[in-house]
Amino acid sequence: MAIRKVVLYGDDILRKRSREVDKFDERLHQLLDDMAETMYQQNGAGLAAVQIGILKRVITIDAGQGLIELVNPVIVETSGMQNGPEGCLSIPEKFVDIKRPYKVKVRAFDRHGKPFTMEGTELLARAFCHEIDHLEGKLFIDLIEK
Ligand code: CO
Repeated sequence: MAIRKVVLYGDDILRKRSREVDKFDERLHQLLDDMAETMYQQNGAGLAAVQIGILKRVITIDAGQGLIELVNPVIVETSGMQNGPEGCLSIPEKFVDIKRPYKVKVRAFDRHGKPFTMEGTELLARAFCHEIDHLEGKLFIDLIEK
């Protein structure tokens, strides 16, 4: 495993769309391992592969329930609303209140290509939305209300 350098705001790659993963191989496992190590080292609640310069639809999250790995995730259901501070490892020291759904259900694949669904509320729901936005080149600061 290795800690990777986190790409910071201003780098064009953060605005690009990430591509679907089609090979669930050793390379993907290495990427997931490196992402988890980098996320924990930076004390982040989530990390998208694009944040270490890899345009693949791969996410790691730990919102307090342990490590979650999501490959090719999609949001399938949302409900409710929450408003609270949100930050991003690519935009250090900036925390802004952002509205997100209270509850979010995602469908994704695990590192072996097995599909699963998972539901989260509060911080986990927020992390699902934030990290999946990264895969589309969106950042939380785009959602700041004027
Ligand atoms: Co982020």
